[in-house]
Amino acid sequence: MATVTTINFSSVFLPSQPVVTSRRCFFKTSSLPSFKRGFVAKVRASSTTFVETKPSETIVVENDVSPNKTILSCPICYKPVTWIGDSFLSVGSIASTSLQCNTCKKTYRGKEAYFDLTAASGAKDYGESMPLSTEVFRTPLVSFLYERGWRQNFIWGGFPGPEKEFELMKDYLKPVLGGNIIDASCGSGMFSRLFAKSGLFSLVVALDYSENMLQQCYDFIKKEESFPEENYVLVRADISRLPFASSSVDAVHAGAAIHCWPSPSTAVAEISRVLRPGGVFVASTFILDGPYNFIPFLRLYRQSMMQISGTYLFLAERELEDLCKACGLVGFTCIRNGRFVMFTASKPK
Ligand SMILES: C[S@@+](CC[C@H](N)C(=O)[O-])C[C@H]1O[C@@H](n2cnc3c(N)ncnc32)[C@H](O)[C@@H]1O
Repeated sequence: MATVTTINFSSVFLPSQPVVTSRRCFFKTSSLPSFKRGFVAKVRASSTTFVETKPSETIVVENDVSPNKTILSCPICYKPVTWIGDSFLSVGSIASTSLQCNTCKKTYRGKEAYFDLTAASGAKDYGESMPLSTEVFRTPLVSFLYERGWRQNFIWGGFPGPEKEFELMKDYLKPVLGGNIIDASCGSGMFSRLFAKSGLFSLVVALDYSENMLQQCYDFIKKEESFPEENYVLVRADISRLPFASSSVDAVHAGAAIHCWPSPSTAVAEISRVLRPGGVFVASTFILDGPYNFIPFLRLYRQSMMQISGTYLFLAERELEDLCKACGLVGFTCIRNGRFVMFTASKPK
């Protein structure tokens, strides 16, 4: 059975910032709510990264997380790619790096802001358009307005705002802290930037289908002073064809996005494929309540109409739970506030 928690947002705290040096992260105990506190320790967070604790009051729990560089894969073969150029992952190294699939030999050249890892990348004459719910975010105007008013309007639907949403999801992400995280459908990157600055993850991938959203994200990063660019990459990809090796990802976050995806089941199945056993999926969306929930005929009619028209597909809580379950994810839990829902489910261990 799913656990549903109703929250009082006035009691949610803003994230406290750990001090991050290139490979060492010092976490204040207050940013790790229910971890063991009060000892001094140095623990393994991944095969390549150590999260070191600071004397007196810092602790990080040992999580079994994935190594970084191996996660990007060819979106056609799902097989590893060879890196040509800079050998480390960073926002600044994308433009000078190419990725070559070891199997089909297709080369993906880094653009200024992102790697284009869509299946059709590099095609000269072939173009593809998605449903309206995807295409609308590809326009320069919507991408520009997104973080300048559009997203803020979600507050009317019960969304508490990015900082508080991040604070809420941290509880869900506890088992995978120290690992890599994909911010799927990141938009202009408000969450992936928070993830990077929190220092809680060894790698942050900001992924979206919209070139203009990714460019916005890049521009925001470039405007920030001392943004931690190392171990942060921007990737253009379709949520239904994720360029990651199977079982290579520790966490996938998808904020306010599932209702925009052309096929939520294909997308969640992809997320499930790339998550490693014990990996966590956390997402938020607008919930749909009402008679549609209970009358099967109305439910199917509503889904068909929304999918045919290409507009947003809002789901009921039980549909979200069923969707996760159908795609092999377990332990569905959610928090609700008005039409806002944040839910999580994980890949079985
Ligand atoms: C409402 S925005 C959410 C942005 C951000 N995650 C947030 O919490 O505000 C929805 C995002 O989903 C992306 N999106 C829509 N269809 C997609 C697809 N097929 N693959 C990947 N991203 C997609 C859009 O480009 C857009 O950036």
